Amino acid sequence: MLQPITPDYYDYEWTAIESVSCSNDGGAVVVWEDGKKLKCHPLWLRENALGPGGIDPRSKENDLNIVDLNLGTRIAQAYLEDGALVVQFEPGGRQASFHPGWLRHVAEGEHQPFASLPEPQIWRATDLTEPPTHDGCSVLESDEALAEWLDDLLGYGLARLTGLPTNIQTVASVARRVGVLRETNFGATWHVSVDLNPNSTANTNAELPAHSDLPSRETPPGFQLLHCLENTVSGGDSTMTDGLAVAEHLQTKEPDVFKLLTLRKWTFSNRDEGEDHRWTGPVIDKGDGRVPWTFRAFHPVRGFPAMPYKEINDAYSALQYLGHVSNSDEFQIRYQLVPGDLIAFDNRRVLHGRTAFDSTSGIRKLQGTYLDSDEVYSRARVLRRRLADVDSQKSIHAARKDSNA
Ligand SMILES: [Fe+2]
Repeated sequence: MLQPITPDYYDYEWTAIESVSCSNDGGAVVVWEDGKKLKCHPLWLRENALGPGGIDPRSKENDLNIVDLNLGTRIAQAYLEDGALVVQFEPGGRQASFHPGWLRHVAEGEHQPFASLPEPQIWRATDLTEPPTHDGCSVLESDEALAEWLDDLLGYGLARLTGLPTNIQTVASVARRVGVLRETNFGATWHVSVDLNPNSTANTNAELPAHSDLPSRETPPGFQLLHCLENTVSGGDSTMTDGLAVAEHLQTKEPDVFKLLTLRKWTFSNRDEGEDHRWTGPVIDKGDGRVPWTFRAFHPVRGFPAMPYKEINDAYSALQYLGHVSNSDEFQIRYQLVPGDLIAFDNRRVLHGRTAFDSTSGIRKLQGTYLDSDEVYSRARVLRRRLADVDSQKSIHAARKDSNA
């Protein structure tokens, strides 16, 4: 039989289904040889059937108008053809077949947003003395190198590149290897250096304790890239703290502090001559409950307590505790950025900062940009898919060579 079209761009292994049965409620239950099972709802299968009111083979998307769906649709008959599922729907008698590998990936949960991304590796300063490091020029040229760098970036929440050209465009060139730049009122890319009239604490020579950027936005930027163009000052070490490690510590050792940080809200504001950004949220924003959470932690733009007066004291005390832990030797790593280095990190998970520096001793000049998390996640998934396809093509060629030898 012809391989059924799937509503995506993946090349699934033909994992033949061993048996299928219709359920009393109109669905179908498929079982593989190893006992793995998937119960398929008739309406879900119907909208994933190839053809009108289902998957359009051109877009690989569903062209169903939901008001046209017959909610009484049932699977009247289900059988296997070469290990693929074939069903007949009623009413109407329409037949449809489904790729067993595609059904298997649903059974395995591989369709979930974080399924094909690296698991977060939670770290403290004892686990990671400096950021995982990769060669910058290789990442600019090779998809394999890019995939390896993104693996570390997603796993540890930070990853460094070294040996990049020290020009102002480099940070955008690296970011565009991943996706579309997230532009803000600071521009598509922006500098971090001492300004005479700074519009951000970042552009002074002051210490920046562990923080996350732009908590004043509904969705703070997902990832940040900082490229070092020049660094001849004394001081100005970069710092990083894994917010997930801090949250884990608070949850187990200081549950009351954790509660205050996740439940009490603050209004953050970021203002400039022509800007007025505001958002209200907790310092550790658990959002929909998935990990990573969003840390909203930048005191220069934390404007107002958004809680009853009587709770403010405890909320400040929790903030101070978070400050001690996230800037402590146990959780924070410190390292020097040298010209040509680029550090990328998850701005909503990893708290970054720097030590104060003497601005009369030299020049410290960084160029930065942001990427939304969606861009990083999408690129990582596509690279995994493409590189897996290349690997499988290589093994097919190798097998053909062997059989021709
Ligand atoms: Fe920052």
